[in-house]
Amino acid sequence: MQKVGVIPGDGIGPEVVKEARKVLDAVSQKRNLIFEFEEFPLGAKHYLDTGEVLSDETLQRLSKKDAILLGAMGDPRVKPGVLEKGILLRLRFHFDQYINLRPIKLLEGVPSPLVDTGRKVDIQFVRENTEDFYVGLGGRVKEGLSKTELELKRRTYEAKFEVGVDLEDEPELAFQIGVITRSGARRVLDFAFQLAKSKKLNLVTCVDKANVLTEMYGLWREVADEVSMKHGIEREFQYVDAVALHMVRTPERFRMIVSPNLFGDILTDLGAAIQGGLGFAPSGNINPSGVSMFEPVHGSAPDIAGKGLANPVGAILSSALMLEALGHKDAADDVERSVEDILKSGKHRTADIGGKTATSKFGDAVVSNLLRR
Ligand code: NAI
Ligand code: MG
Repeated sequence: MQKVGVIPGDGIGPEVVKEARKVLDAVSQKRNLIFEFEEFPLGAKHYLDTGEVLSDETLQRLSKKDAILLGAMGDPRVKPGVLEKGILLRLRFHFDQYINLRPIKLLEGVPSPLVDTGRKVDIQFVRENTEDFYVGLGGRVKEGLSKTELELKRRTYEAKFEVGVDLEDEPELAFQIGVITRSGARRVLDFAFQLAKSKKLNLVTCVDKANVLTEMYGLWREVADEVSMKHGIEREFQYVDAVALHMVRTPERFRMIVSPNLFGDILTDLGAAIQGGLGFAPSGNINPSGVSMFEPVHGSAPDIAGKGLANPVGAILSSALMLEALGHKDAADDVERSVEDILKSGKHRTADIGGKTATSKFGDAVVSNLLRR
């Protein structure tokens, strides 16, 4: 039996999670897998009713799960960031989900705004999820002399920075410190190369900007080289600007891309556009030896919430990623193929790609295909 914590969240979150749950129920019926779902009603309503964003007790309960399935966070009634940071980022940080896995696959039957129909795009994208310019170190300094102490506390290490700034002839300066550690780089690169190996992908593209940000990405490159040799898989280095260009012009050349946090954030949104839009993009926030969390890439889309207009594919494919992470690769492939069948048939298309199929009808079609095949 596998225990799954479900956090439907806000806006279209609950609508798309419902479809993912339907598909998981069909999988368990077909394959005799047993899932025990527990719902956690976190999000805007819970916050507005109780004033609580995410309690330690909830974290404690979630820590006993084998995986978490999440919809989306964010609501116009709540100040931006409260729920997104307070729930999403807190969970990612608490469970040290240092891998952000975002497969970029253009499924047959899906029109891409960037890539011609019929071209084959199938990229495994691994983004580092805890370091780089996202460690929250920085400050703003007004003219004159100032000294700031900054502290970075992680489960596995601690670093203190003393930053002295003597600012002349300029009213204000803002700075941000990016951090990459050898072990932080190693663990995510290790995951990427290992995944490439298990999926028989013969090339790993390592993204950086080592020609300009020489220290941070110099270390990243060094570690990438070591890891590539260890796994015996070929690697290439590409600067982030070049990767952006090639992702649009020749996306079929990529198999596995592994990237530091900031560049990965940007490139994976480009990836979502390539695969037909936000509604199609799944993701996993993974800690291979902890609790991982699977969620569609899109947000709560308040503009279309409650209207049956949401595309559930991103959420359904996220549940497939969850199945794979829990060791059920065949079941995951089965789900992906059912989604693909439905899209290929052209009979069911949600509004985001010009169709008329409602969210729940799309889910139903995937379920009946899955049970039939
Ligand atoms: P969004 O991803 O919610 O929506 C952007 C646009 O894409 C909207 O026009 C929306 O209708 C459309 N869209 C998104 N998902 C779709 C789907 N499944 N099917 C059809 N169309 C879809 O991003 P936005 O509007 O910037 O943010 C809305 C809220 O979501 C904000 O509160 C934001 O902070 C939050 N957010 C949460 C995320 C998460 O939970 N992981 C990620 C991104 C944003
Ligand atoms: Mg983003």
